[in-house]
Amino acid sequence: MIGWRQLSEFFMRHFGEEPELSCCAPGRINLIGEHIDYAGGAVLPLSISPGVSVAVRSLPAGGLSLVTDVLGEPQVHKLDRATAADGPAAYVLELARLTETASAQIAILSDLPVGQGLSSSAATGIAVQGALLALKPDAVLPSARAVCRAAQRAEHLALGTSCGLMDQYASMFGLEDSALLIDTWKESHTEVPLSGLAGLEIVVVDSGQPRQLAASEYNRRHAEMVGALNEARRLSGGFDCFRERPPEELLAIAETMPDPARRRIRHLLSEQRRVHDFVAALQAADQPAMGRLLRESHASLRDDAAVSTTQIDILVELLDGLPGCLGARLMGGGFGGSLLALFTAPVDNAALDDLLRDYAAACTLQAGWLSVAPGPGAWLSGAGNGRRSLAEWL
Ligand code: GLA
Repeated sequence: MIGWRQLSEFFMRHFGEEPELSCCAPGRINLIGEHIDYAGGAVLPLSISPGVSVAVRSLPAGGLSLVTDVLGEPQVHKLDRATAADGPAAYVLELARLTETASAQIAILSDLPVGQGLSSSAATGIAVQGALLALKPDAVLPSARAVCRAAQRAEHLALGTSCGLMDQYASMFGLEDSALLIDTWKESHTEVPLSGLAGLEIVVVDSGQPRQLAASEYNRRHAEMVGALNEARRLSGGFDCFRERPPEELLAIAETMPDPARRRIRHLLSEQRRVHDFVAALQAADQPAMGRLLRESHASLRDDAAVSTTQIDILVELLDGLPGCLGARLMGGGFGGSLLALFTAPVDNAALDDLLRDYAAACTLQAGWLSVAPGPGAWLSGAGNGRRSLAEWL
């Protein structure tokens, strides 16, 4: 994560003065529980060490100014309705509106790869709001959960992705030594210690496949899932969250429904079971079971959720065949983007590079990989101050 010194130098270079404070929010990986967070499922992400760092300074007037390294060549942008029609600038403008900030200088730096399924937009949503709220500690502050929901809503409005709450929640509440089992229905979580991953390396592989249609396809899957769930709710005589009902009962109902509704519900139920099985495997340090669950998850994402691509399926298969790889699967929204793989440490770099060369030859896509480490959830800091957890402060 980019620290205070580098961030404040960047801020000073563009605004000529020191920032007042900063907020850093991490990206996340998702161990398991994909495409179920918008349906009330329980998911198992963990926050990682790279993330988005935001420095701010309040102004009595003059509007909002933004400088960032994520919009190409850094330069100061005036943020208003006329200039920020859509994309990242509109997103930051919406986040400022949510915190009722009319005038401020904002600098954003990120060491989180963008578009690789590591949730750079959710981290931005948390870090920008956290920094702007910290500028006015005397105001009535929203709860940490409300900040997560606001970031989610801003993504819906400004970026057009009807995402669930997993990424924002993981970025806010993440812990260095635990994954979070998030109940997205109740908006609560339990900590699952990561000691069961000892001796493993968490590898994120960027497929190199652009996610151009990702938002529209993702939204379509979301709508299909919610539609299928509503139909199952009607046929079953009603429920609030699908987890109230025995999965066998809902599966029997799903089998009477036409495709794709049947397959979407099948994914929801089987992925939910795998999340709980993964928690048990993590607690028992049963690494082969974790690998098997990743492979099963990918098969379900490919066949029942239909969010994979031919290229990603090829890459998963290549990774699964690599000595030391326990299992791999598509991670995040799908339709391109990244994969998660668990490896017995240390990863054989040369073998992995060779594999990516084979993939490049087969798919004409340039893939890359990085090994990620867990990191803490969002925090506030300033010149000479220590860190303070954003979730605890709110
Ligand atoms: C994206 C969304 C999340 C979640 C995943 C799929 O990362 O932002 O809310 O739906 O896709 O599990």
